[in-house]
Amino acid sequence: MNNKYVIRGGHGLYGELEISGAKNAAVAIIPAALLVRGSCRIENIPQISDVTMLLSILRQMGAKIQMVNRHTMDIDCSGIHTTCANFELMRRIRASYYLIGALLGRFGEAEVSMPGGCDFGGVRPIDQHVKGFTAMGADVGVKNGLVCAQAAGGRLTGANIYLDVVSVGATINLMLAAVLAKGTTVIENAAREPHIVDVANFLNSMGADVRGAGTGVIKIHGVDKLSGGCYSIIPDQIEAGTYLAAVAGAGGEVLVKNVIPKHLDCITRKLTEMGVYTSAVSGDCVLIRSTGALRRASIKTQPYPGFPTDMQPQLAAILTTAAGTSVITEGVWDNRYKYVDELTKMGAKIQVDGRVAIIEGVPYLTGAPIKACDLRAGAALVIAGVCARGITEVSGVRYIERGYENIVGKLRTLGADILSVASGEEEADDAEAI
Ligand code: EPZ
Repeated sequence: MNNKYVIRGGHGLYGELEISGAKNAAVAIIPAALLVRGSCRIENIPQISDVTMLLSILRQMGAKIQMVNRHTMDIDCSGIHTTCANFELMRRIRASYYLIGALLGRFGEAEVSMPGGCDFGGVRPIDQHVKGFTAMGADVGVKNGLVCAQAAGGRLTGANIYLDVVSVGATINLMLAAVLAKGTTVIENAAREPHIVDVANFLNSMGADVRGAGTGVIKIHGVDKLSGGCYSIIPDQIEAGTYLAAVAGAGGEVLVKNVIPKHLDCITRKLTEMGVYTSAVSGDCVLIRSTGALRRASIKTQPYPGFPTDMQPQLAAILTTAAGTSVITEGVWDNRYKYVDELTKMGAKIQVDGRVAIIEGVPYLTGAPIKACDLRAGAALVIAGVCARGITEVSGVRYIERGYENIVGKLRTLGADILSVASGEEEADDAEAI
């Protein structure tokens, strides 16, 4: 059933909140389990629809998956019987491209559909993934929307790969491909996001030899086999950042628990510039206190440790009511401003020119019916609704639920007046994915 969120804005947020496991680590670690001959116990898996989709794909390929509790699963890919993933499910989720690296690495071949993706203005290329697989001896072709890859001699060979752009997806995919390859692979100009380190730690805990993750150069010495083990996914940097932004905009005081404060530095420092108090507490919590009266800021999104593009819409939402004129420069995607028209319906003053958005602060936003067009845009609209005067109805919430576990319940525990109700509207079951 299609739902919408109905939000009565204007309440401060108070209390404590538990952050879930990182989506972008989970959607890589679940396919990475394909490389393991044995059972992997994975803890701190977020309950989001992207995870459900990936688990369905693995199950259809012959994986045995058992729920241990709400956030822990045993995944055993010993009995995988195909290197061809379910196309219908694959095209719905961007992270399905990790199946290419994992299948190529384990079986020397893969046949998967071209990944979908949030529309950030044009194609979302995978040329850097393909360049790396090819350097490792794979023949990669695209026909009828399918990526078909075959390793020469049935096993990839280690190679030196220089990424022309810093790509999270290519870095992880090439790590997955390389762990069982013959010889050593070096990835230069690698992305350094926390979830890249998390995937490397997962692989190493299963017997891989990956060094340097978190720096610009990653070295992978191929091993013959990965066997099972137990691993816990890191907390979600962007989910935590999203709630920090909500409290900053709405005002209030919240202890955000189960986080790695260091991963949040790029976000909390920007909030400090905007007049918000934040402080790391007892190693795995961040306390935030805000009056809701914010100062303007300039933001440029960049690969980690720069300000994350996945937090850009949420910060834009709260800068709409900051004193002064703010400037956002999107440094990763061509166009990640599709939410701007929706914020404008709430009274925001935003002008977009290419990758730059100029936001002129207004005293307050007013509630309106608005529609999410992708995951983080959706989160930004929810934040705008929580901060606005009056009632906001957010539709398109299936995008939000791809990446946020129980966002309505979590906001309600902080005192937000938000409900998920049946929308009565049919939404197209399109192929857009995260
Ligand atoms: C990951 O996407 C995340 N998705 C995105 O998060 C995030 O926005 C992005 O990294 C950047 O941080 C997942 O982890 C599943 P990239 P990914 O490859 O891997 C260009 C969210 O909201 N590029 O790092 O697809 C590309 O066009 C989602 O959680 C190439 O040119 O992003 C872009 O400009 C949305 N060729 C830049 O690199 C390639 O082969 C960064 O893309 C690959 C990428």
